[in-house]
Amino acid sequence: MTNQVNPLGSGPDGGEALDLAGKHIVLGLSGGIACYKAAELCRALIKAGATVQVVMTEAAEQFITAVTLQALSGRPVYTSQWDSREDNNMAHINLSRESDAILVAPMSADFMAKLLHGRADDLLSLMCLARPIDKVPLLVAPAMNREMYAHPATQRNFVQLDADGATVLGVGSGFQACGETGDGRMLEPEQILEDLVAFFAPKVLAGQRVLVTAGPTYEAIDPVRGITNLSSGKMGFAIARAAREAGAEVTLVAGPVTQPTPRGVSRIDVRSAQQMLEAVSARAQAASVFVATAAVADWRPAAPSAQKIKKDGSGQAPQLAFTENPDILATVAQSAAAQAGRLFCVGFAAESQDLAENAEAKRLRKKVPLLVGNIGPDTFGQDHNALLLVDAQGSTALPRASKLSLARQLVREIAARMAAAPSQAKAAAP
Ligand code: CTP
Repeated sequence: MTNQVNPLGSGPDGGEALDLAGKHIVLGLSGGIACYKAAELCRALIKAGATVQVVMTEAAEQFITAVTLQALSGRPVYTSQWDSREDNNMAHINLSRESDAILVAPMSADFMAKLLHGRADDLLSLMCLARPIDKVPLLVAPAMNREMYAHPATQRNFVQLDADGATVLGVGSGFQACGETGDGRMLEPEQILEDLVAFFAPKVLAGQRVLVTAGPTYEAIDPVRGITNLSSGKMGFAIARAAREAGAEVTLVAGPVTQPTPRGVSRIDVRSAQQMLEAVSARAQAASVFVATAAVADWRPAAPSAQKIKKDGSGQAPQLAFTENPDILATVAQSAAAQAGRLFCVGFAAESQDLAENAEAKRLRKKVPLLVGNIGPDTFGQDHNALLLVDAQGSTALPRASKLSLARQLVREIAARMAAAPSQAKAAAP
């Protein structure tokens, strides 16, 4: 069968390419109750721009019908190595050769054992064995009961599967269909999609450790009130995701926001600027890139009340005294690692006017090699934004796009600067 191009090649506005545009995925289902999630996964892959060829084992057909997967993928499903629709009767060769990746989800314990022994007695295992290892990657999303998952045989098989070149996507934890609770659930379709997109991303930050701050801070006035701002954290979370996609080990220090944690990113939740500084300081020396997107409150109440401040009936508002918060970015930029060129610091500037001038002034004041300017009212809480990158060489505009797209471009820009001139990390050259 020849590749058809998914009509969803670009985003809803026709502008941005979808994450899996142009990718052809063989989605393999082995037998397990998680097959019901494979239907959602198939939809998610199509929505992300991929074309999908579904291959099911006989056991998978006990859990979900080929009709469902055919309707969702828009292609007839293959279930047998004897399928006569292929002219040469070699579906295992033809289907694997035309795919960009084989994704087995769910992968049962039994199917994994088969893969390990190089068995090939059904179309899916035959195809996995017959794929050119260096050209067609194999990703697997295990799904099994917690005891099966914890069994030494299964754990041993994971190690061997990894050594054999497969990418094991990990499992979720929680309530299982069997009524037990523990590790072994298949990841959610959106998580598998995020991992697959990351798998295909160029690894421009491989080996780097990236530290990101995101969101607002909250400065307590008393136990029930505080000062904060409207930052949603979306840009910082998108940068953390893009850096992980690019192969970095990412730590995200987040103020109080409701964003979901990107896959593969370790997250530390903080509330106040001081807590954010402590979390960052403890990790900055081990990092090689620091990106400060957090909208840190400039001031905090000097003496937060231990009890709720009550009205005293006088009609007078309470008098609040403020103390300036530490500047986290400037502090890190002054650290030994940054000064020695081992830590590349990137700041953000939310301005309301004169973006280029304000951003350059802030870059020099904070002593960072790269400052990213944006217009505050155009970005807070929004999914799209436009950025102006300012460094010692001048400025580069990244036109309005989704925050994830901008984050990916920014990650490439950071990687290019680090590769071109490692000494740039030293500080802000005037
Ligand atoms: N920043 C920080 N710690 C602070 C204040 C700001 O780390 N206490 C960082 C932000 O995360 C951002 C950059 O510094 O990367 C600029 O933040 P911004 O609020 O625009 O600048 P300010 O220094 O607060 O300057 P001003 O409010 O006067 O524009």
